[in-house]
Amino acid sequence: MDDPEFAVQTDLHTQSLLLAAAHHDIAALRNLLRNTSANVQDDETGFTPLHAAIAACEPEEDNQVDHGATVNGNGEVNSGEAELEAAEKTVRLLFENGAIWNDLDANGETPACIARRLGLKTLYEMCVDAGVRAELLLSRLDQYMPLGDADSDEESEDDAEDAAEDVTGTLESTDLGDATQNGDDSTQSANYLASTLTFDRDRILDSSANGVMMEWETTLMRRSAELLAPQEGLRVLNVGHGMGIVDGIFQEKKPKAHHIIEAHPDVIRKMRENGWHEKPGVVIHEGRWQDVVTRLVEQGELFDAIYFDTFAEEYNALREFFTEHVIGLLDPAGDPNGEGGKFGFFNGMGADRQVCYDVYGKVVEMDLFEAGFDTEWETIPIPDLESEGEWDGVRRKYWALDSYRLPTCAFIS
Ligand SMILES: C[S@@+](CC[C@H](N)C(=O)[O-])C[C@H]1O[C@@H](n2cnc3c(N)ncnc32)[C@H](O)[C@@H]1O
Repeated sequence: MDDPEFAVQTDLHTQSLLLAAAHHDIAALRNLLRNTSANVQDDETGFTPLHAAIAACEPEEDNQVDHGATVNGNGEVNSGEAELEAAEKTVRLLFENGAIWNDLDANGETPACIARRLGLKTLYEMCVDAGVRAELLLSRLDQYMPLGDADSDEESEDDAEDAAEDVTGTLESTDLGDATQNGDDSTQSANYLASTLTFDRDRILDSSANGVMMEWETTLMRRSAELLAPQEGLRVLNVGHGMGIVDGIFQEKKPKAHHIIEAHPDVIRKMRENGWHEKPGVVIHEGRWQDVVTRLVEQGELFDAIYFDTFAEEYNALREFFTEHVIGLLDPAGDPNGEGGKFGFFNGMGADRQVCYDVYGKVVEMDLFEAGFDTEWETIPIPDLESEGEWDGVRRKYWALDSYRLPTCAFIS
């Protein structure tokens, strides 16, 4: 900073705001927010006013929480009701003034992470809801194509996105799921499809040692396959073969037709080596699902069960799949028992952080509903993958949570 006086002023504003937030002093906070952004951050702790407001509910060493809250024998916080109410008002005011829900502090925690660690359910839910609002708004802006010439389009889209970030914050500081990194989705996908894969007994890694598929997911694949294809003789479509785990389980159900779409040449080679092209009912479509599904719809193929689990694609790809294509591929009449067709997908978005997983869970459920699906969720416990050595040799732990939410979708009746 060039101007030392300006730096001192800014720091003073930041500290005043953090202090007012930590004291849940609504009047002072409202006053300060007239001239100062809600998104200031302490240089040392990385605290934003949201962090400060939530962390202030943390119990003191002597088992007494600030402002009268206490800790019971189980270590659960029993914050004074009035204090919690003040904290909620503070957090609400900060969100109304554009506080970003997922900034990280120096400990790598978002405000929601602190709320969760302290057992403050309502404050946690407020952060999740703010995240959902931010994501919905940003995805609407992505779809928004203003009229006018190309240059001004770009500007107005940028302005609109800036405004969205000011109002609600974004998921920018966290990854969304399977090894997807920052950058353009189609570039990521193209890079992955051009990379050389390594096949081990219990995993497939890409050339940067990202886990493409891992054996620990077998429980999730089995349960999905059971829910999607509860009986023999159905018509099944699987997008993304990977280690062939879910396809192997579908095969046990003796499907009448078993279509598999797979894009990676190394996976297709492996499929050939393992005899997949000769298995009963199996039809393999080599290529990206984006290039295959329209042909399937044109050919009038219908399925009782569809599973989707790709890699190096972002949420937009999944949303495009279920909003634009499942409707033409899933048989609403379904199996001989009259049950409508079912759609499922690997629900791994944001799974490296609980709050992101919860935000994405809500966003995807809303998008599914808008696309005409009811979703049923089943919770499946996940063992401690770290202590079991699952991540040894894997670049990024794409799963850090202790449970998986398994979605099964059907057309709204
Ligand atoms: C996570 S693995 C699937 C694992 C599989 N569910 C199993 O049970 O083993 C993802 C697979 O999707 C494939 N894939 C990635 N992008 C694709 C695309 N656009 N179209 C088709 N397949 C794709 C990858 O090559 C990889 O084989």
